[in-house]
Amino acid sequence: RKTPVARQEDGGYIVSTYREITALLHDPHVSSNTDNLHDPGPSVAIRGDSPAFIGLDPPEHDRLRRMAMRYFGPPHTPTLVDDMRPDLRAIVTNLIDNLVSKDEIDIVDDFAYPFPVTVICHLLGVPREDEPRFHGWVEAIVGLLDFNPATDPEERMREGVRAREDLRAYLAELLESRRGRPPGNDLLSRLANDDGPDGRMTDEEIVSTANLLLIAGHETTVNLITNGALTLLRHPDVLERLRRDPGMIVRTVEELLRYEPPVQLVLWRAAYSDLTVADTVIPKGSRITLVLASGNRDPAYFRDPDRFDPDRRDNQHLGFGGGVHLCFGAPLARLETQIALNELFRNLEGPRLVADPPPYRQSAVLRGPRHLLVRQE
Ligand code: HEM
Repeated sequence: RKTPVARQEDGGYIVSTYREITALLHDPHVSSNTDNLHDPGPSVAIRGDSPAFIGLDPPEHDRLRRMAMRYFGPPHTPTLVDDMRPDLRAIVTNLIDNLVSKDEIDIVDDFAYPFPVTVICHLLGVPREDEPRFHGWVEAIVGLLDFNPATDPEERMREGVRAREDLRAYLAELLESRRGRPPGNDLLSRLANDDGPDGRMTDEEIVSTANLLLIAGHETTVNLITNGALTLLRHPDVLERLRRDPGMIVRTVEELLRYEPPVQLVLWRAAYSDLTVADTVIPKGSRITLVLASGNRDPAYFRDPDRFDPDRRDNQHLGFGGGVHLCFGAPLARLETQIALNELFRNLEGPRLVADPPPYRQSAVLRGPRHLLVRQE
């Protein structure tokens, strides 16, 4: 409330109030391309030499996003997401069938992880049985954002960079195998054969896009489902209402995205020019961090912000970011989480948390429990 914009010791700026975050998310003088930073820091290790569109600005960003979006989400139909509705339900039912007889379950390992991973593999055209191979790579890449003091940052960086290269090589091989075959229904195959109004993506661009979607489709929804299960178990009154009125899940998921957003920060935005934000001048080339999670609890924007209240009206949360980089997977993530939480709590018998709080992943960016143990009556 008192410091909407704070200067960090290393010269970066942290913005934490709703109005200022929203303005910067929509400001064309704020770049997502870390080449525009005076000091790119570890961002270069994470994005590599051929950044995906999350790390690019318009017009380059728009062309690549539009090409991928053509097959992925509204308003274009038929889309992969719409086509998948029955499959999502079938995947969840299958996972739950294996859970209901267990006395103790781990919501993360037994449910919240396998569900979105199966979905994103199917959408991209990545064989699900290869999951043990790329699981480790994705963990190491996301690990670049960890603050775990027990691990050596340089070693983490080496592992992350190696994993990034291994994952790209794996996806490039997969892309090659799609060439010369009749186009399948998956995104990789459609992009490899796309001759739409924007022309073709280069192989580099397809690999970067697939890489981005695989990582984004992996770690974020897992956390939303797990944060959702935890929050509902902590609010039995809401859970009871939800069980009686499953349609309430739509606004419950929106409130979860405000109250416990899986992506807490937008890192490494760069000021294209000197910017004045809430009386502070942010010099050109400075690194800007937008704390979405803090904006979501800003009392100047949300009444009683620390209360979990699915009945909140006009919930314009920042859980999916905003502006040109507004989350591309939002329609999928919403649908997955709505189905997952409704089906989970429709089937569990008297679920109780084994440990509260549960152990959390040690990441500065992604918030969610590592494990969430639940006992049934
Ligand atoms: C962008 C959150 C699920 C793909 C973003 C951004 C946020 C976000 C905050 C903005 C980043 C920025 O401005 O730099 C989430 C959350 C999810 C989720 C909370 C789950 C609950 C997904 C899924 C996919 C996905 C399932 C893909 C299948 C993307 C992509 C971008 C993005 C490609 C970059 C968009 C662009 O640069 O235009 N997401 N995401 N996300 N997300 Fe998600």
